[in-house]
Amino acid sequence: MPNVALVGTQWGDEGKGKIVDWLAERFDIVARYQGGNNAGHTVIYGDTKHVLHLVPSGILRPDKICVIGNGVVVDPEALFEEIDALEARGITTRDRLWVSERAHLILPYHHGIELGSEARRGDDRIGTTSRGIGPCYQDKMARSGIRAIDCADRGVLSRMIVANLNVVNDLLHHLYGRGPFDPEQMIETYVAYGQRLRPYLADTSLLLNRAMDAGRSVLFEGAQGTHLDIDHSTYPFVTSSSATAGGVCSGLGIGPSRVDGVIGVTKAYTTRVGAGPMPTELDDEVGEQLRRVGQEFGATTGRPRRCGWFDGVAARYAARVNGLAALAVTKLDVLDGIDPLRLCVGYEIDGVHVKEMPSTLPNGAIRPLYEDLPGWSRPIAEVRRWEDLPPEVHRYLERLAEISHCPVGMVSNGADREAIMLPPDGPLERLLP
Ligand code: GDP
Ligand code: IMO
Ligand code: MG
Repeated sequence: MPNVALVGTQWGDEGKGKIVDWLAERFDIVARYQGGNNAGHTVIYGDTKHVLHLVPSGILRPDKICVIGNGVVVDPEALFEEIDALEARGITTRDRLWVSERAHLILPYHHGIELGSEARRGDDRIGTTSRGIGPCYQDKMARSGIRAIDCADRGVLSRMIVANLNVVNDLLHHLYGRGPFDPEQMIETYVAYGQRLRPYLADTSLLLNRAMDAGRSVLFEGAQGTHLDIDHSTYPFVTSSSATAGGVCSGLGIGPSRVDGVIGVTKAYTTRVGAGPMPTELDDEVGEQLRRVGQEFGATTGRPRRCGWFDGVAARYAARVNGLAALAVTKLDVLDGIDPLRLCVGYEIDGVHVKEMPSTLPNGAIRPLYEDLPGWSRPIAEVRRWEDLPPEVHRYLERLAEISHCPVGMVSNGADREAIMLPPDGPLERLLP
């Protein structure tokens, strides 16, 4: 059975949650491989809106197994809050949700360090989600992180917390004028978290590989997006994990030969939350319309999202670094009534035309080069058959695919589960189980 990875191709919030929820029906397992509760994945069906931060979006399908892999950073408090909210809605998680024993934990001092560091950066701040993500990955790489399995042993956990606070309390006090944290209180809290976490813990690499050996199919769920990836993005205005397809293997403990294809989710336009370059950003009526009609406000922090035209340079780059087999284009309905529609095909930087994503983007000094296409005059949110989409939509998608160097495998024209269409004989017909 094929295993497929799903990644964001832009700056996050592409609609990954909705697409994962739809795809999950065809897979046995959904596994998150990176990020943490900086993610906000919205799934809407019936009258209910679910926003998932840590738990894979597959959890909303009752018969599916979900995995939080070793590459994810887990804030236990946030995880339990999410589990409680799901259970309150009748969605069970026991024996269905597995958390890697090797996943690193977010501790309260990670929040403290992030707040202090962002404040000190002043105008150069990244505009993080304040979830402690960056400092937790920093600790992981510095080999001072605390993993889920470490909470199982009070002695081990105590030594680690005491050793870390020895350094962290000094750092917080002298550099950021914050803290200190009390080790005893933190040990008690995390021992209790460890007890509650225990039934969810597993060697998830073993679990996934055994499942795949037995012919089960896995959907690898990405968070954030390509242009927030720690390596392949607009550094330093990025998140601290490997959001691209490369992160799947290290973040889950599986071999690259297990990934049969990668789907890239993209909005029909572009949004970004937080600071950093965004070449196609619109500071006009159209940008305002995209934000209003698309309800572009962060699912995690509620911040207004920056909006702009579709960026073909960014999409082409995402197709390359992820090896995309197909695009899932979301929020097409938000473009209703906008005429003309613009697709960015290149940038002009210091008078030079650029077609491939540069390794650094000057903030503000980029002129996007656009191609204009006619918009469509009738609303498309109710359309359910590919052939019933207006010819202007087909033209827009064809051109978007050409510019992105990647075929369109599905489109979404509404937030609801049903608002999804696949082109006949498209690339996903062959890829999906
Ligand atoms: P994610 O982080 O990639 O999962 O995306 P978010 O959930 O943060 O943001 C996407 C938003 O767009 C959510 O509010 C979805 O309900 C909504 N959405 C997804 N697909 C569509 C679509 O095709 N049309 C409209 N109008 N909304 C959509
Ligand atoms: P989903 O999975 C959009 C952004 C933040 C900030 C930068 C670094 O819902 O697409 P961090 O807290 O990760 O250190 O912040 O990354 N960011 C996201 N933007 N969607 C997300 O997740 C994001 N997760 C982080 O706004 O600019
Ligand atoms: Mg989101």
